[in-house]
Amino acid sequence: MTEQHHPHLTLGVCDYPEHVPRDRWEIYAQQQKELGLTYVRIAEFAWALMEPTEGEYNWTWLDEAVEVLHREGLKVVLCTPTATPPAWLIRKHPEILAWDAQGKVRAFGSRRHYDFASEVYREHSRRITRAMAERYGQHPGVAGWQTDNEFGCHDTTRSYGPASQAAFPMWLQSRYESIDQLNEAWGNVFWSQTYSGFDQIGLPNLTVTEPNPSHVLDYCRFASDMIRTFQEEQVSILRECSPGRFITHNFMIFFSDFDHYEVSKCLDFVSWDAYPTGMLEFFASWESDEVKQKYARTGHPDLISFNHDLYRGLKAYQGGHPLPFWVMEQQCGQVNWAPYNPLPADGAVKLWTAQAWAHGADTVSYFRWRAATMAQEVMHSGLLRHDETPDRGFDEVKALSLSDFPAGDVPAQVALLHDYESLWIWDQQKHNQDLSYWRQVMLYYSTLRSLGVDVDVVHPSSDLSKYALIVAPALTLMTEETMEALRKATEHALLIFGPRTAYRTASGRTPETGQFGTLADLVGGKLRNFDSLRPGLREKVDQYDVTLWAEGYQCEDATPVHVYESGPLAGVCAVMRKGNVLTIGAHSPGLVYDLLREALAEARVSVLDVPEGIRVSRRSGKMLVQNFNAYGVDVLGTRMPAVSVEMLP
Ligand code: GAL
Repeated sequence: MTEQHHPHLTLGVCDYPEHVPRDRWEIYAQQQKELGLTYVRIAEFAWALMEPTEGEYNWTWLDEAVEVLHREGLKVVLCTPTATPPAWLIRKHPEILAWDAQGKVRAFGSRRHYDFASEVYREHSRRITRAMAERYGQHPGVAGWQTDNEFGCHDTTRSYGPASQAAFPMWLQSRYESIDQLNEAWGNVFWSQTYSGFDQIGLPNLTVTEPNPSHVLDYCRFASDMIRTFQEEQVSILRECSPGRFITHNFMIFFSDFDHYEVSKCLDFVSWDAYPTGMLEFFASWESDEVKQKYARTGHPDLISFNHDLYRGLKAYQGGHPLPFWVMEQQCGQVNWAPYNPLPADGAVKLWTAQAWAHGADTVSYFRWRAATMAQEVMHSGLLRHDETPDRGFDEVKALSLSDFPAGDVPAQVALLHDYESLWIWDQQKHNQDLSYWRQVMLYYSTLRSLGVDVDVVHPSSDLSKYALIVAPALTLMTEETMEALRKATEHALLIFGPRTAYRTASGRTPETGQFGTLADLVGGKLRNFDSLRPGLREKVDQYDVTLWAEGYQCEDATPVHVYESGPLAGVCAVMRKGNVLTIGAHSPGLVYDLLREALAEARVSVLDVPEGIRVSRRSGKMLVQNFNAYGVDVLGTRMPAVSVEMLP
């Protein structure tokens, strides 16, 4: 199914017919159509209405809701409602509930109250999915499906209760086969952690001090696998009962707790939920107050586009190419869940929509149609206010001319490599509490974007043959396959490594030969020391300031490009080069900027110096210039008003 291949950008909305009186449905459908929307996503939290008591379904309302939208010519995206198991189910099977890391049961009364490993829950999830798929799978108004809703939201990927406890040792047994191999992989000789049977292995929480990172790493893999198989069960039922319809899932901003590459493999295309102002306030802990202030009403351009680029790249996993994606929930007014929730600037909804297109979105679907008049989200906005009058975002959506945004490729010549296993192991032992995996990645990504460069964010197993420059800012966990792929890539591309590269093996240990392991000959050197810099500690590499992290190398046959000038690493190499491989050990925005600039020139990727708050992105032979500033700017020969976009040929 190739529903993602529309000739130009297409719009949709998330709606909740069950939240409003029946007499509003036709009116809303008509207004949605008039607004130029194509898709309406419904029903992701409506299990209790579909099945008020066990085995007794009530489809009347949903039949009508689908019919009303279909009659109006709108296409329905139906969701499996498994993010909200009903009260009767939890009362009957409390073992479905997840447990938090402190060993407390997470109660009914909001959403996502289930453990992915629960066999009982899986059975009910398959049952409700089949019931829905059989009823609506071939309805002409149903264009496709969304599985569940935002896997992992509210910290629900990992559960520490009996269901996961029962499943984890079996999962380990199939991964390691023998307990001796597991002991070896985890290094259990340390602190007498050796097991003599898989049944002795618990979950890595409530330990006296930090648990073994290899244990945690496998627990992350296990929990991720539970999500993958949970989703695959739904997908296979939907494929069987709903042929020709697409299947997607709405992933989240900077979400780290499961392997999105693995979890998206069975989907036709990827979707994600874009909340630019919330994301800046809530997720980007590393951004300064000044930055948060500056972008409070627009979100930070790079935080938004990084997620677009990452989700475009998910389907490139294991040999594939980046693909158009959907924004399933696009913020169109203020949100309710960040510490501060400012109103978006005038023009922000148009800016976000155009930016999504420029980074490869096929469809942008706004959250939500009308602001909720009940329960947890009454402080959240929609396209309509609570009183049904059009809110600020509505007019910006109305003014969009969709044929201005044609389908086509994002012509990125630069790849930024990302993988979730590196993220898990990096963030478990940050060694500098201020330097997370994402912060390290964003330093490189933002620098590239500030130079006007289009970037594909992809897994190292993707097809890397088309890139002139490949940047791997934080690939700390290195499997033999990844090493092989990178070795091959250096035959045609310039490769840049950041600190902590190949510092961990697949099981989370350090290679016996130290950092880089069998990649040492490719980079041409070895680690001497790493240095974690507390706030206020600054060292120098030539004229550049180094903060947070400094890694010093002993060059074997690499050439030292830069050397530390101060601190315990004075005189030691900070940046080394061998052939097509440049390794940058220091965290230094100025140094990274200059080195990336030089590397882009060497790789013949053209750069464009854009003023602060301005970003350019290319797609389908056009260039979209975006002004995220709250003031007008002269750029590329045009005067751009505050918070606006300009399309250049
Ligand atoms: C998303 C979620 C929606 C809604 C929205 C509010 O994370 O999928 O159901 O809660 O946030 O911004």
